[in-house]
Formats: sequence, structure tokens, C-alpha cells
Amino acid sequence: MSHACKILQASAENIDLCVDLLRDGAVLGMPTETVYGLAGNALNEESVRKIFEVKGRPLLDPLIVHFSSIEQAEEHVEFNERARALAAQFWPGALTLVLPKKDTISDLVTAGLPSVAVRVPGHPIFRNLLERLDFPLAAPSANPFGYVSPTLAEHVAATLGDRILAVIDGGACEHGVESTIADLRNPNAPMILRPGPLSAEQLGMQNVEVELKQPSNKSAHPAPGMLTLHYSPNTPITLFRHGERPSCFQKSEAVLYNTKPAANKLAENTFWLSESGDLTEIAHNLFMLIQKLDVRGYTQLQVERAEDVDIGIAVNDRLSRAAAKR
Ligand code: TXA
Ligand code: MG
Repeated sequence: MSHACKILQASAENIDLCVDLLRDGAVLGMPTETVYGLAGNALNEESVRKIFEVKGRPLLDPLIVHFSSIEQAEEHVEFNERARALAAQFWPGALTLVLPKKDTISDLVTAGLPSVAVRVPGHPIFRNLLERLDFPLAAPSANPFGYVSPTLAEHVAATLGDRILAVIDGGACEHGVESTIADLRNPNAPMILRPGPLSAEQLGMQNVEVELKQPSNKSAHPAPGMLTLHYSPNTPITLFRHGERPSCFQKSEAVLYNTKPAANKLAENTFWLSESGDLTEIAHNLFMLIQKLDVRGYTQLQVERAEDVDIGIAVNDRLSRAAAKR
């Protein structure tokens, strides 16, 4: 654990400081409504390179670019009518659109793809920063490549703290899982590439079965959040079916339920994501609880799958990847 970087409160003075640092090309940790991001000037190749280095992320895995408004996004990507309608309805918010890029976006950001992933985030601190800057911010989740996404400033400080100057503290992220990514290149056949807080139904799209398949290491990952092994804590994870109990477990293992089990006396290694079983709350707490348990020395985390609806689909997607064998 390294805590070399500063966790900054979002005071006016600190925001001024971060604006200056970002203008100078720094990469900083900052809160979004989904998970914490590792942000840098998307139009400055040196900053973009730094993002990949800090995360230890392969250059084949393209970044999401964040804008202050649809108008700013239109300067850098080719919208179609369907994408524009979705943006108007869901931005600012947890929806990322994949669209053809314009020449202003470098191949480094997109891993050589002719498309780029874009969103206007809803978090007030992130929005405030974007409004003060005259460039968009590229920002992947602020975790070391392959590890669980951060939902607290402390997670960022603990894992990347020796490689960045600061992380702005925005408290716990509202959604707790990353944005929904939709490929809108063909407006007549939009595709969900990564399930997230906004469901396919809400977006008026089909839910595609996301395949757990290891992409090639030679070409840009087609839907790279889609690496089989991803979101993985150090403690091995196994999953059990929603509404059931693990078939057997040891004292050395932790058991993680969706809902607080109804029993008078619960074993010390029993945990739950929500008192009531509310899916939004389950998603909000998922990465937070996994990271908390990851440093407690359990031999294994046995985790209950969520109900496969709404944001539960995103929860199950992240859990399946976290549980994939190394
Ligand atoms: O909620 C979020 O989306 C967070 C916050 C910080 O905004 N960001 C995030 O970024 O989750 P990251 O880098 O961890 O995941 C972005 C995903 C990657 O899997 C990437 O491969 C995919 O978006 N992606 C980026 N550009 C793409 C493109 N042109 N086509 C398809 N997928 C793309
Ligand atoms: Mg990520």
C-alpha cells in the first residue's frame, strides 16, 4: 500500500490547483458518478501516454473521452441522429457512446481504432473541472490494470498513490459500476458493449449476451472492458447462484450475500451488500466491499450472483470477470 499522493478535498482552492495541473499535462484521480477516473488532457499525447503508464494498461485498450457538453463532443466525434437523441436524454450520465472519431482525437487514445468512446459525466466535481478546461479529459477507471475499479478516493491513493500527484475526494461513487457502453456507429443496429447503470431497456436497445472471451493481443480490443480476467481482487472469487447458499465453505473464506441473511446469529465471515436486497444499493457497495475484504487475508470470497435484471446485469458481468481463472 502506498499513500504518497494527496487526497484533496474539493475546495475552490484545490479545484484551481487541479485545473492548473491538468493544463500542465498531469494525470489526476477524480470522482465520477460511476467509479473514480484517472484523468488527463485527451488532446495531449504525453498526458494520454502517462495514463497508460500509471495504470499499467496495454496500449491496445482504448480510453473513454469525457466532455463538458454534447456541443464539445460534436467537435471531436461524428454523431448520428440516434446517438444525438440518446445523448440528449441521458447526458450528463452513465452512458458511453462509441462513435466515429474526428482527426482531433489521436490514435493513441483509441488504440488505432477509427472510433472513440465518449461521455458527458454527471458528477458535479468532474463537470466543474471540464467546464473550466478548454480540452476534454481521457479517463479510464483509476485502478491498476485488471484490478477492481475504485469507488472511494482512498482506493485510488492505496493502489496508484505513488504514481500520481493527487486524487480529488468526492466520497463514495453513486453507481459503483462503470458506465454502460453502447456502440452507436450503426444507428440501426446499436449494441451494448458493456452493461452498466443504464439498462438496454432504458436505452431502447437489445441486450446482447456478452461473451467471456480473451481478446487477441495483436489488435485493438473490440470491446476491451471485455477482457475475461478483469476487476479481479487478489483473493480468488467463486460465485454461487442468486437466492442460494454456497454449497460448502471454510472458516477461512468470506461469504458475500446480496441481502442480509435472516438468522439470529450470523457467522463472522458472513457479509451482505444490502439490508433489503435493493439492486442499486448492491451495485453501489459491490467494489467497496470486495476491496475491503481483499485485505483481510481470506483464502476465498464466495459471492452470490445478483438477480439478472437492470443494474444486476452489470453486477453479474463484473462478478463473472472477477471470478475468471487466472
Ligand atoms: O464509468 C466509466 O466508464 C469509467 C469512468 C471513469 O468514466 N471509465 C471506465 O473506463 O470504465 P475504462 O477505461 O476502465 O473502460 C473503458 C472501456 C474499455 O474497456 C475500452 O476498451 C472501451 O471502453 N472502449 C474504449 N474505446 C472504445 C472503442 N472505440 N470501441 C469499443 N470499446 C471502447
Ligand atoms: Mg476499467
